[in-house]
Amino acid sequence: MLTIALSKGKLLEPTLKLLRRAGYASPGLSAESRRLVYACPGRDMTLLIVRPSDVPTYVEYGAADAGIVGKDVLLEQDCDVYEPLDLRFGACRISVAALRGRESRTRLSSKIRVATKYPNIAERYFNRMGIPVEIIKLYGSIELAPVVGLADRIVDLVETGKTLKAHDLTEVEVIARSTARLIVNRASLKMKHEALTEFISRLRSQAPSNSQTMRSGRSRRLC
Ligand code: PRP
Repeated sequence: MLTIALSKGKLLEPTLKLLRRAGYASPGLSAESRRLVYACPGRDMTLLIVRPSDVPTYVEYGAADAGIVGKDVLLEQDCDVYEPLDLRFGACRISVAALRGRESRTRLSSKIRVATKYPNIAERYFNRMGIPVEIIKLYGSIELAPVVGLADRIVDLVETGKTLKAHDLTEVEVIARSTARLIVNRASLKMKHEALTEFISRLRSQAPSNSQTMRSGRSRRLC
């Protein structure tokens, strides 16, 4: 029996499509469903629906044998898991952004305020650049922070760029690129080698090619 942790939210729909193509259908499971545990009939597999930032924890501690999660989450968290497969969907970038016209650092005080859901990625980046920062951890709607004067910069995901544009923000620098990844618990890979190898190879054969992306764009105004 394999247990797989899936990220709820934007990655769920393309993840379910990939699983269906790979032969792991789970009736009743859709992006709208409220249940958190599903069986895959005929497959000896259980699917768990968890917050993206919790997927590495489920996998690292062995509550799930494998998981599907964005590289952004893996870069933010220091987790001890295998990452055997880039699934190539959910393509986006982790970028620094600022209000249009405020991109230049000379207009800012020596220590800049950075609002982000990714405090570790942001801190590492600005340390590397030698720029002193105060990191303000937020849990969502990051683009609002510069608009209301809470921060000079944000570090956030950019997919289509529409949310930045809707708030008169401009991308200053791309820190990293992200796509959905398959991660695997180290002990499970030994104990359930055959089942996991088959799962990985079925996903590999169905993962979209480099040029395709399966996330849909949309624009959201926050104020
Ligand atoms: C993500 C991200 C940006 C937006 C980028 O937010 O944090 O806000 O998507 O997408 P775009 O470039 O296509 O406009 P999400 O929808 O996950 O919501 P959140 O801000 O509440 O985390």
